Amino acid sequence: MFPLTSFLSIAAILLLCAYTLHKVRLIHLLLHDVRDQSQRENAGLFRQLEALQGLYTELGLKRSLPDTRGWAASPDFLLEMARHALSERPQLVVECSSGTSTLVLARCMQINGAGKVYSLEHDPAYARQARQQLARHGLSDWAEVLDAPLAAQDFGGSTWPWYVTDGLPGGADIDMLAIDGPPQATRALARYPAGPALFGRLSPGAAVFLDDARRPDEQEILRRWALQFPEMEQRQLNCEKGAAVLHYRPRA
Ligand SMILES: C[S@@+](CC[C@H](N)C(=O)[O-])C[C@H]1O[C@@H](n2cnc3c(N)ncnc32)[C@H](O)[C@@H]1O
Repeated sequence: MFPLTSFLSIAAILLLCAYTLHKVRLIHLLLHDVRDQSQRENAGLFRQLEALQGLYTELGLKRSLPDTRGWAASPDFLLEMARHALSERPQLVVECSSGTSTLVLARCMQINGAGKVYSLEHDPAYARQARQQLARHGLSDWAEVLDAPLAAQDFGGSTWPWYVTDGLPGGADIDMLAIDGPPQATRALARYPAGPALFGRLSPGAAVFLDDARRPDEQEILRRWALQFPEMEQRQLNCEKGAAVLHYRPRA
């Protein structure tokens, strides 16, 4: 007769083995996930470094750019805008929010030998910083950072805090619009007003670049713009934070 205690011991050992195997399998799967994630992160980082190097090369910069992480636009988005600005040579560039993007676009104007950037900035401290950076790069003639506080404004029956745009030059059409503000925390769909406020001033063929398009808010903004402005062709760009470019194609 097989003693009961031996039977229980064997059962306990088998249970322990099964439990250990289960844990080992979980660790194995976790390690795979960690490896895949770190490969993805490395590939993403490498892509940003390539884009940053591309920017320095294509812009022939003699001085360093400020941050291109965190709040600043990422190198891949900046490079997309720089390539557009260098090939299409926009005359009037308007930007919602200032920073590294202002420098990049101003340098494109300088290389082109024509054009001007007007950057709407709601925060006076960041406006000052952007002006200092422009001066440090010798680019002050190519971009103007406008103090543009956010004021409650009505768009289609709802109120948004949106830039006071009085400082923008009147008359001329906008050839390129870069939208990277106001910050998301100011209101849900914070950047939606760029459409109703500025799309009516675009020149035919003008390009609009929207940063952070991976966020649900920006996706909803793009959906609203698609319905409201069918003459704006939309294309998603494969950038780190998601981005979209819209082209104004007026119907004949
Ligand atoms: C997404 S950031 C704009 C970045 C800008 N386009 C660039 O490329 O650097 C939007 C706004 O956040 C504010 N901002 C910029 N840097 C910030 C920081 N480090 N912390 C908090 N707010 C910041 C500024 O008022 C700016 O207009």
